[in-house]
Amino acid sequence: MTKPEVKLAPSVLSADFSRLGEAVREATEAGADYIHIDIMDGHFVPNLTVGPPMVAALRPWTKLPFDVHLMMSEPDRYLEAFARAGSNIITVHAEACVHLHRSVQAIKALGARAGVAINPASPLSLIEEVLAEADLVLLMSVNPGFGGQSFIPASLDKITRLRRMLDESRCLGTELEVDGGINAELASAVVKHGARVLVAGNAVFHKGESVAQAVARLRASLDKA
Ligand code: DX5
Ligand code: ZN
Repeated sequence: MTKPEVKLAPSVLSADFSRLGEAVREATEAGADYIHIDIMDGHFVPNLTVGPPMVAALRPWTKLPFDVHLMMSEPDRYLEAFARAGSNIITVHAEACVHLHRSVQAIKALGARAGVAINPASPLSLIEEVLAEADLVLLMSVNPGFGGQSFIPASLDKITRLRRMLDESRCLGTELEVDGGINAELASAVVKHGARVLVAGNAVFHKGESVAQAVARLRASLDKA
C-alpha cells in the first residue's frame, strides 16, 4: 500500500511571540504545509492568545495556507474578521457552536475552508452530521488551551473511528487533522491510525534544535514508519 500524503502544520503557539513573523518564515522554509494559528479567548479555554490583527500581520510572511484554530465561544461573531485577515482554513469547535452547520456554511460563504474541531471528552457523534460539509475535522489529542501537553493515548482509537466514519461516508476530501502532544515518537502512530494533517507546536518550536531540524526529524519519523 502506498503511504498517504501527510501534511505538517506547525503551531506558532510554541514560538517566540516577540518574533512570530520570523517563526512563520522559518516554518515555511523548513517545508511546512500549513501554518497553524491558535486563537484563545480566555473563556472557551483558560488562556488568551491573539486575534485577527495578528493573523493579518503574519500574512505577508508566507504564502502557505493559514490554518486558524478558533478556541473561542461564539466564534460566528469573528468569522468575517478572521477571513479578511487572511485565514485559509477556519476551524470552529463543535462545543462552542449552537448551530454548527450554520457556522460551517458561514465560513465557506466567506471563501475559506471550513474546519470542525472536537475536544478529547466529546463524542464523534457531535460532528457526524456535518462531516459531509466540512473540509477538515480537527481531533484534539490534548485538552485545548496550552502547548506542550502530553498526547492523550485514547486519542489513537478515536482517530481510527473517525477515519472509518470519513471513509464510510465517502468524505474522501475531508482532511483529518490531529492536534496536541504530537512529536517524532508519536507521529507515525497517529498517521497509521488515520490522521493526514499533524499539528505540532513544541516539537517544532523549542530550544536546542532549529525549526528546519525539527521539521526534518518529524518527516524522517514518518518516512521510516
Ligand atoms: C492546544 C493547541 C495546539 C497546540 C499544540 O490548545 O490547539 O495547537 O499549540 O501544541 P503541542 O504540539 O505543543 O501540543
Ligand atoms: Zn490548535
